[in-house]
Amino acid sequence: MRVSLQRQPIEEVQTDALVLLVFQDRREDRLGLGELGDAGEITGKPFETTLLHNVPGMRAKRLLALGAGKPPKFNAAELRRAAGAAIRHLKSKSITDAAIWLDAAQSGADDVSAAVEGAILGDFETDRYKTDKKDVKPVERFTVAVAEGGPHLDAALERGRIIAEAQNFTRELANEPANRLTPMGLAGHARRMAEQFGLECEVLDRDRMAQLGMGSLLGVAIGSAEPPALIVLRYRPASPSAAAHLGLVGKGVTFDTGGISIKPADGMEKMKYDMAGGAAAIGAMRALAQLKPAIPVTALIPAVENMPGSRAQRPGDIVTSLSGKTIEVINTDAEGRLILADALTYAQKLGCTHLVDAATLTGAVVVALGHIHVGLFANDDALRERVMLAARAAGDKMWHMPVDDDYKDYLKSVFADIPNVGGRYGGAVTAAMFLKEFADPTPWIHLDIAGTAWLDDAKPFLAKGPTGVPLRTMVRLAMDWQA
Ligand code: BES
Ligand code: MN
Ligand code: ZN
Repeated sequence: MRVSLQRQPIEEVQTDALVLLVFQDRREDRLGLGELGDAGEITGKPFETTLLHNVPGMRAKRLLALGAGKPPKFNAAELRRAAGAAIRHLKSKSITDAAIWLDAAQSGADDVSAAVEGAILGDFETDRYKTDKKDVKPVERFTVAVAEGGPHLDAALERGRIIAEAQNFTRELANEPANRLTPMGLAGHARRMAEQFGLECEVLDRDRMAQLGMGSLLGVAIGSAEPPALIVLRYRPASPSAAAHLGLVGKGVTFDTGGISIKPADGMEKMKYDMAGGAAAIGAMRALAQLKPAIPVTALIPAVENMPGSRAQRPGDIVTSLSGKTIEVINTDAEGRLILADALTYAQKLGCTHLVDAATLTGAVVVALGHIHVGLFANDDALRERVMLAARAAGDKMWHMPVDDDYKDYLKSVFADIPNVGGRYGGAVTAAMFLKEFADPTPWIHLDIAGTAWLDDAKPFLAKGPTGVPLRTMVRLAMDWQA
């Protein structure tokens, strides 16, 4: 999709379809829409679509009136969704050239970015392996049209394009089936991306990890014929402005069978997206390489396949992590925390001063928060505030969850320092408590994205499948970092 910004009056915009936002409880008089509103044919409800041809006085071939809801609720996040819904509606009608009109009230830098992001994200389809794609053509050209505005809007457009393209790259990775995306395969994608955008990429193989003592990570990998990889991507600014060094750690389980504690067959095919956190970290680095934040950022993606088999680790096994702590593996399906433990320790050895991990870690977070909010866990209030602000600005919904010491009682092992699972209750919290043992004392945020990295049903603005969450938050966090 080619995107551009144009400054001109609404009547002058040349496109196959011009999207105009219409609001609830507010009469839209322009372009003859007033009568349709009076007749109750246009209400302005979110994602309502009305497509009109040959509107008098307009150069655009069609006008798409798109419901935007109530004005007080409208913001950049809603605009992102509205733009996505418009694109998905238009492409369903085989319209591949579109523009969106932004009034003065909605044409700040964040609005322009959000509109472009929404359009590019909305255009994404999971049809990579469909041999017959003729019913959905990608949109070729998308224009953001405003009456006026300085060069900061051109920069915002470019930012939005970079971020959304990175997010679609992440979604493409998350959607890859496990036979086509192995741990080393994921490392290959990271390496090619790094070459293309000028990042450093280092891939630690099994021998190197064994040398370093990453027993927790390797214990998960041992059941699979596919060798593991610890992917490290580095961005260094020309002249760092702060002492901070951000570490982005992403769970990269390319397939999670559960191992010996095997999962039921029903729905197991979805466990190909158990590397969505890792894919988000790789995608975030793709964007950051182009946007160039002021602080160094290192991404670490422990990549493994969790398989049962005669070599696989067993419940009751005790492994020694890179930190030196011993772990009793009570359940081999709690593998994400085992690989993240070593990655979090290693991130600190590499000098990261602040850590953010993203992981499809627990079914329990889906029980707690459904598919709406990311579960956010923190051992540091200041970093939590930063991440919450970044998430709000980026339009990723996150909810703060507890990790206080009272929960430690849930994680007691008789035979080792710590077990890899807690009891029956508070599963998302005990998973986070486990990670905290390895992140402390470094300021750290854990994002449990098990419920939000994948859409089971399409939204008006997004295809069914991988969402790319929390890439935008990661990017925003790094970009907004002040010394
Ligand atoms: N990858 C799963 C978590 C998951 C569940 C992701 C649903 C996406 C959707 C994780 O490795 C897992 O299996 N967690 C277990 C932990 C349990 C054994 C303590 C779970 O949530 O059941
Ligand atoms: Mn698992
Ligand atoms: Zn898993």
